[in-house]
Amino acid sequence: MNKETTYVPPIKIQGKKTQLVNFILENLPKEFETWVEPFMGSGVVGFNVKPKKAIFADSNPHIVNFYNAIKNKEINHLIVKKFLQEQGKILAEKGQDYYNQIRERFNKDHQPLDFLFLNRSCFNGMIRFNRKLEFNVPYGHKPERFAQAYVTKITNQVKQVAFLIENNEWNFICQDFKETIQLAKENDLIYCDPPYIGRHVDYYDSWDEQNEFDLENTLQNCGAKFMLSTWHSNQYRKNTYLESLWKNYEIATTSHFYHLGGKEENRNAVTEALILNYKTVPKQEFVKPPVYQQLILKI
Ligand SMILES: C[S@@+](CC[C@H](N)C(=O)[O-])C[C@H]1O[C@@H](n2cnc3c(N)ncnc32)[C@H](O)[C@@H]1O
Repeated sequence: MNKETTYVPPIKIQGKKTQLVNFILENLPKEFETWVEPFMGSGVVGFNVKPKKAIFADSNPHIVNFYNAIKNKEINHLIVKKFLQEQGKILAEKGQDYYNQIRERFNKDHQPLDFLFLNRSCFNGMIRFNRKLEFNVPYGHKPERFAQAYVTKITNQVKQVAFLIENNEWNFICQDFKETIQLAKENDLIYCDPPYIGRHVDYYDSWDEQNEFDLENTLQNCGAKFMLSTWHSNQYRKNTYLESLWKNYEIATTSHFYHLGGKEENRNAVTEALILNYKTVPKQEFVKPPVYQQLILKI
């Protein structure tokens, strides 16, 4: 795969691994049967791996409904285009009131097009649900959000993923990670990207130490190959679970920089880890940022 053409899916989510896709691709085993992704989020990782067979799962039903709606042809890029053009026009006129109206409608009817609309016009493209299972992210305050270029971009994202779904055997399931991992067979590859411990995000997306232990235990007993994304370290802290719970596995790392402000000294290096239960070709120590890291540096 060409390193510069990472496919970006239509749904945005905090913690998405768009910038790490190439690193993950570099660490894939040579062969596997079915791609099993228990924490699919936006789906960006599996969608770029493009496996013939895949199980994509998540505890958030709205993500799964959205992709099932594409798979069932309930929505396609033309429907998305028309919807966003029409709704975007009203948003441009009415602003926040209209956003709130769609949010209310979504919390009643749970329609995938409303989910997309909210996800692409809310504050920071976040997904957050309260205990009453209501989407509660405020308006992003960009009334011109659905300008033509943005609608075209989203429309193309939907078109591409619809093509991939149609031409492969992919299933989308809403369930807990343990059930998904149990579906994996010996020749399958599981890719896990659980939420980070202690960073409670929302009702569907919380994670504590017990979850991390359960995950390790379920993976250890599943018999399939697995890879798991987590953080390794930043300038202040390191992930101590790598030296305890995950110490018996292979660990690959990559570093990139988050830019806080324009000054050179405000670049913060973060090291990301991939935990593997199989060996890959040893990777050279980080010397020169690969293409995707250079892209981050320029932002
Ligand atoms: C860090 S995000 C995954 C991001 C994804 N890899 C991407 O690049 O877009 C974690 C995901 O795990 C899901 N999740 C949280 N707890 C879960 C659980 N117990 N079982 C299944 N999915 C869960 C969340 O809804 C969220 O979508």
